[in-house]
Amino acid sequence: MSLSGKSAVVTGAGMGIGKAMTEILLLNGAKVAILDVNQTALEALKKALNKQCGPENTLFVECDVESDQQFKAAFQKAVDTFGGVDVLVNNAGVLNEAAWEKTVSVNIMGVIRGTYLALEHMNKLSGGRGGVVINTASMAGLGPFVCCPVYTATKHAVIGFTRTMAAAAELSGYGIRVNAICPSFVQTDLFSNIRTQLGQYSHLSGKHQEYVDELGVMNPSEVAEGLIQLLTDETQNGAVLMVVPNKKQYVTFPAAF
Ligand SMILES: NC(=O)c1ccc[n+]([C@@H]2O[C@H](COP(=O)([O-])OP(=O)(O)OC[C@H]3O[C@@H](n4cnc5c(N)ncnc54)[C@H](O)[C@@H]3O)[C@@H](O)[C@H]2O)c1
Repeated sequence: MSLSGKSAVVTGAGMGIGKAMTEILLLNGAKVAILDVNQTALEALKKALNKQCGPENTLFVECDVESDQQFKAAFQKAVDTFGGVDVLVNNAGVLNEAAWEKTVSVNIMGVIRGTYLALEHMNKLSGGRGGVVINTASMAGLGPFVCCPVYTATKHAVIGFTRTMAAAAELSGYGIRVNAICPSFVQTDLFSNIRTQLGQYSHLSGKHQEYVDELGVMNPSEVAEGLIQLLTDETQNGAVLMVVPNKKQYVTFPAAF
């Protein structure tokens, strides 16, 4: 899939990984609807991107993925503005073991909500033109990130949903591919604040530091390169791409069904 002339919706796009994903999509010739709950982040990015690439290629929408109404309206606005949407990146995510219900709500329900909206608009069986959904999971979706049981559970859920949805979409003939990206540590606000978000597991923050020392920390642009790989390789459906410093690798799972 060439991204030139395509349109994308990216959630949690005001900062961090979502911002880097937005920038690389624009560089590849796509138009991007930039959704984020943080209006200040949106304003700052709007200023920067308007200078770099002109306002006609972007749409900025304040949107909380926890809100059905806001997410629906934002997606519709992207469809109306760009004449359709080809790519959805469900990237918005939080890590907060104390506010664990919110972590579940944003990281799992937000991803499902977005994917179902994408199906509504993009499904070839109901007049859509097909496309791709990419979900931002995490290395914590592949094994126990011991200081964050709930965050780990949400990212495992994202991977399970992605793989199953991909197979269901293929068998149903929706014309939509669904893939997930699993970064290790990335230099963003979420990463910088992990220690303060561990709630009852704060005593395990030393484990977090051990993982960081072992795995290193990437720049968000490395994850954004992985996004382009998953979008442009049309053979990938239900794929889970692990991204660690200087390396991208598809994950092989044991056959269960
Ligand atoms: N930083 C890492 O080390 C790392 C590693 C693996 C996976 N991830 C995942 O990458 C994604 C992006 O994380 P990041 O590190 O860039 O975080 P970040 O905190 O730097 O940026 C996240 C963005 O999402 C927005 N957001 C949060 N809740 C939202 C909501 N309810 N609705 C809409 N937008 C919302 C925030 O305002 C922010 O702009 C998350 O899903 C995260 O779990 C991050």
